[in-house]
Amino acid sequence: MATSSLLRWGLLLLSAAVVALAVALRLQQPLTGFSPTSLSTSSTATTATTTHYCYKGIRTHDREKPSAECFSVVDGLFSRVLSENEATSHTPPADAVVVEDSGYVIPGLWDGHGHLLQYGEFLHSVDLFGSQSLDDVRARIRAYLDANPGAGTKDQWVRGVGWDQTAFGRMPTAADVDQDPQLRGVYMMLDRIDVHCSWVSQPVLDLLPNLPEEVPGGEIVREPGMGVFCDNAMDLVAAIWPKPTPDIKARQVKSAMAALNEVGLVGMHDAGATPASLHLYGQLSASNDWTVRVHAMVECDKRNTFCPEAAAAVAAQQDDSIVDAAKFAVRSVKLFADGALGSWGSAMIEPYTDHPWTTGSLLINATELTSVATAWAAEGYQVNIHAIGDLANRYAIDALEAALEQQCPPSAEEGEEEKVDRLRLCQATHRFRIEHAQIIHPDDQARILRLGIIPSIQPTHATSDSKYAESRLGTDRLRSSAYRMRSLLPAHPVLGSDFPVEPPDPFQGIYAAVTRRSPHTGLGPDGGSAADDGFLVDEVLSLDDALWGFTGAPAYGSFLEGKAGVIREGAFADWVVLDAPIDEVDVEDLRNFKVRETWVGGRRVYTRPN
Ligand SMILES: *[C@@H]1O[C@H](CO)[C@@H](O)[C@H](O)[C@H]1NC(C)=O
Ligand SMILES: [Zn+2]
Repeated sequence: MATSSLLRWGLLLLSAAVVALAVALRLQQPLTGFSPTSLSTSSTATTATTTHYCYKGIRTHDREKPSAECFSVVDGLFSRVLSENEATSHTPPADAVVVEDSGYVIPGLWDGHGHLLQYGEFLHSVDLFGSQSLDDVRARIRAYLDANPGAGTKDQWVRGVGWDQTAFGRMPTAADVDQDPQLRGVYMMLDRIDVHCSWVSQPVLDLLPNLPEEVPGGEIVREPGMGVFCDNAMDLVAAIWPKPTPDIKARQVKSAMAALNEVGLVGMHDAGATPASLHLYGQLSASNDWTVRVHAMVECDKRNTFCPEAAAAVAAQQDDSIVDAAKFAVRSVKLFADGALGSWGSAMIEPYTDHPWTTGSLLINATELTSVATAWAAEGYQVNIHAIGDLANRYAIDALEAALEQQCPPSAEEGEEEKVDRLRLCQATHRFRIEHAQIIHPDDQARILRLGIIPSIQPTHATSDSKYAESRLGTDRLRSSAYRMRSLLPAHPVLGSDFPVEPPDPFQGIYAAVTRRSPHTGLGPDGGSAADDGFLVDEVLSLDDALWGFTGAPAYGSFLEGKAGVIREGAFADWVVLDAPIDEVDVEDLRNFKVRETWVGGRRVYTRPN
């Protein structure tokens, strides 16, 4: 950066401080760790400032001008984008700050399905991902307790996430932690890798003396002992868990945003924010530390219900400038049709191949799913349904189709083709989605494509699940129905990671999408040689399609097409600087890829240390 621009940055900081003061006066209770400053540079002092950036190469994702050399930024937006030829003949305004950089630019990346607060919580909890044994788990908890003295009391439970019973050979129990003298008496709640089960310690069990025999849509695991609660049964534990204070949550959100910026993310779709989280986001989004754009899906306190007043309360509290700048918006709702494949919780049309006595379970019946989806759609919300099993996906499509019918009823008698056109057009304005869309009967894949329902897919789930997918599903179902990506391309799949379930790094997601091998190991499901092809390789994406899944597709999936995920005039000035052009990077290097800088709204929010 040139000296003159450093000076200009100094001025920007000064004027930002004035805005900070004004905003601080408006915020009732500034939260610890969050500087109460507006991210928007729309104060009068900075309105006219143009900053002109030139790079070695710019990939824009704008069809009319796919590559560029320079762009100008005013007020957090791209004001001009110049191709190589145009850049040569263009003279920036005399008062513009000019920045020349040797890096290569791509549009800012979005994660289409993640959990912001839970990721922050994860960053402040025990990391159990990849734990190989119960001993390994106990060692990690001991290390956490050593590093976080005071954790594990009745008021502040130890939280952890990432265990997988397949590594232990059986479900874990409260006794497994209790047998370690150092862990005895510690309050803890440890989430399974897919966050569909919680494993608690004996002191927590002791707080639950009167457990019901059965929990509809859930399971209290009793073999080989007590300690694990799955799906709806997790609510029993969540109800007595001492919730972190708003200050702790604010700190967690701040850590999460910093970590997301570090991997090149400028925006995310929060796949389930409770009314309390939405309220917190509403407060924090006015701050300078709010460096990730958040499109949040409402998740009612009682799952799968209708609670529009919660979202309306956030809207009433929000400044228009925050919504206009897409720093934080609530336009969608998250519903849940079923649980996860790993714990046999996803609802299948036919029984599980390795558990032939069960077809999994729905968290809501088909009638009720349709009625709650329709109610939210009538209120103007984008309806996003979590569906993993093929039965859940079928019912999700039924519910979304019914909601489209209700939103856009036929005006006259029509044939089948006209009906499909009407529903497609309706879907283009409502953008209903299926979250995960993992196992879909071929008939229903055709319906998704016909209606244009948006699949929201996590490429790293496919590679992580590949270990057990075939035993759960059997070969035929796996080959016809599971983990589609390429075959769903015409429906514009949104890609994401489901962080903290998987790391948020979008380059790992891109790697998994283009190779169908695990970014953690570089191996396919056979775990073998370099000749291992990857998991269901017919479903690989090209690099261009995978990148689109983390830029243009999530922009469309959150009503921001032309504004996000693209470098063009009028779009948000969000970009990522790389050391080399992305299409020249060796695919294997994407597994441990490091971005150089991340910019959001014309502001640099991450710089890689030297
Ligand atoms: C579906 O669920 C609702 C609400 O739990 C219940 O009232 C209704 O009877 C159920 N319908 C069927 C067909 O099971
Ligand atoms: Zn999720």
